[in-house]
Amino acid sequence: MENKMEWWKQTSIYQIYPWSFQDSNGDGIGDLKGILGRLDQIQDLGVETIWFSPFYRSPGEDFGYDISDYTAIDPRFGTMEDCDKLIKEIHKRKIRIVLDMVMNHTSDQHPWFLESKSSKENAKRDFYIWRKGTKRTPNNWISMVGTSGWNYDKTTDESYYSNFLSFQPDLNYRNPKVKKAMFDVLDFWLRKGVDGFRLDIFNSIYKDESFRDNPSSLRYFPTPDNHDEAFFQKKLYNLNLPESFQFAKEVRKHISKYKQKPFLIGEVSGSDKVLKSFLGEKADGLNLVFQFELIHFDYEANFFKELLEKNERVFPAPYTPTYVLGNHDQRRYIDRLGGDVRKAKVLSAFQFLARGIPVVYYGEEIARKEGKISSFFGKDPIAKMNRLVPLFLSNLLGIYINRDNCRLPMLWEMSQNAGFSKGNPWLPVGTFQPEDTVLHQKTNKDSLWNHYKALFHLRKGSVVLKEGSVRTKSSTHPDVLCFERVLGDKVVIVYLNFGETETQEVIPKGSKPLYQFGRTKELGGALQLGSHSGAAFLTKLKK
Ligand code: GLC
Ligand code: CA
Repeated sequence: MENKMEWWKQTSIYQIYPWSFQDSNGDGIGDLKGILGRLDQIQDLGVETIWFSPFYRSPGEDFGYDISDYTAIDPRFGTMEDCDKLIKEIHKRKIRIVLDMVMNHTSDQHPWFLESKSSKENAKRDFYIWRKGTKRTPNNWISMVGTSGWNYDKTTDESYYSNFLSFQPDLNYRNPKVKKAMFDVLDFWLRKGVDGFRLDIFNSIYKDESFRDNPSSLRYFPTPDNHDEAFFQKKLYNLNLPESFQFAKEVRKHISKYKQKPFLIGEVSGSDKVLKSFLGEKADGLNLVFQFELIHFDYEANFFKELLEKNERVFPAPYTPTYVLGNHDQRRYIDRLGGDVRKAKVLSAFQFLARGIPVVYYGEEIARKEGKISSFFGKDPIAKMNRLVPLFLSNLLGIYINRDNCRLPMLWEMSQNAGFSKGNPWLPVGTFQPEDTVLHQKTNKDSLWNHYKALFHLRKGSVVLKEGSVRTKSSTHPDVLCFERVLGDKVVIVYLNFGETETQEVIPKGSKPLYQFGRTKELGGALQLGSHSGAAFLTKLKK
């Protein structure tokens, strides 16, 4: 008998960006009490795992991705008591909780860094990466944001390295004390019962020991799923080091002794080969990694067919693919669809019915749209670096500069600030109609919210969708994607129409409808699929 599949291989993930979810005290910033008050709704939606972007103590220059105390809650968001309550209340609802863990760097206000930069002799000096080099930078490494990774500090006349922004100094994992300190942090949270960690830019953890220069490349812009070559550099020596692949296994081993069977999901943005190295040859590295192909989808059946087939080829079981349509760093996918909710239904159906983990970013379930804040007025540090790049130009180039736009407050109801805050929201709520809000969409059975709800619950209740294998099938029309999920003698067969025209597909005899959306109709053994519609049926494998 095979063991039942590990829980994290079959879960669904919902990402909450604490700044923007729900404010409870009128200061305009979302907080833990606010989230507590919304847990029943998240449960109603059917979410199985919540991933929280950071709420640790932080100066907030990068909105929490610059941590100054890993075991304290930032007062903006509440207290440790609130957090303990949050963990308890989430678990009470049979939901799992995943915290964001920024292991690569701290804030430059973290006590470790303040000590480290104070003198070359300080005990924390080697917690970070310091090199000589004043006029000339120590080597040619470019950070992930396109500037030199070296930052000169006059106190000790040396430069420290940062693979992201300069106020986010990289920790030195070649120092065993750093590893130990960070494992202590993981233990702190695991003892509180958290069920896993999302590892921020884990591809950046190790840097080349001998600081070799990176070779040049012809490529300038990075893409969401590839930072390996960017800014005219092949990032051989400051990203994706073999030591980082090895470290993935170490972290996995370290956390696996906990009884909640926690998991790791890595933000490692690289080629499939790189992703696989992080997952380990024996699937003994990071449990999961984000796969960002859907961030820049082509809305065509064939794109999704090829993606499914590729994932089965490159990441067959026991590897588990992930399907990510957006997050707090990317343009919202509904805007890529020109706001077309019918198409959003097709995409999300794909995400939930394929073999793998759907990762949903708060607001996707209500088609929460992008803001239009130009980088000139941006609060996002990336926007601040690019103040003079106008929105139309960044859109034209396909680069995303002001991440404020995908972080706007959640739209709950038709009241002041859409129910997000009674104060002045940290980012504008923008204009909205009743039908844009959760409350309204709940009452409309055809709404996107109800579609997501159906999908979350469908997966939750179907062992075939959770554990079954997947194979693509041919369809009668090129706009229709057809695939099967198979477990034992049970089969779920899925049809998704990405086209404008109505098509007809043959459905196996004796199939039982599981879920349908858009204009669909069954006639005898045939299924009529209207434009941008879909259906799933349960059937038995033919002997
Ligand atoms: C990751 C986060 C992003 C953050 C950066 C630095 O990419 O998702 O929001 O700015 O790392 O921590
Ligand atoms: Ca607040």
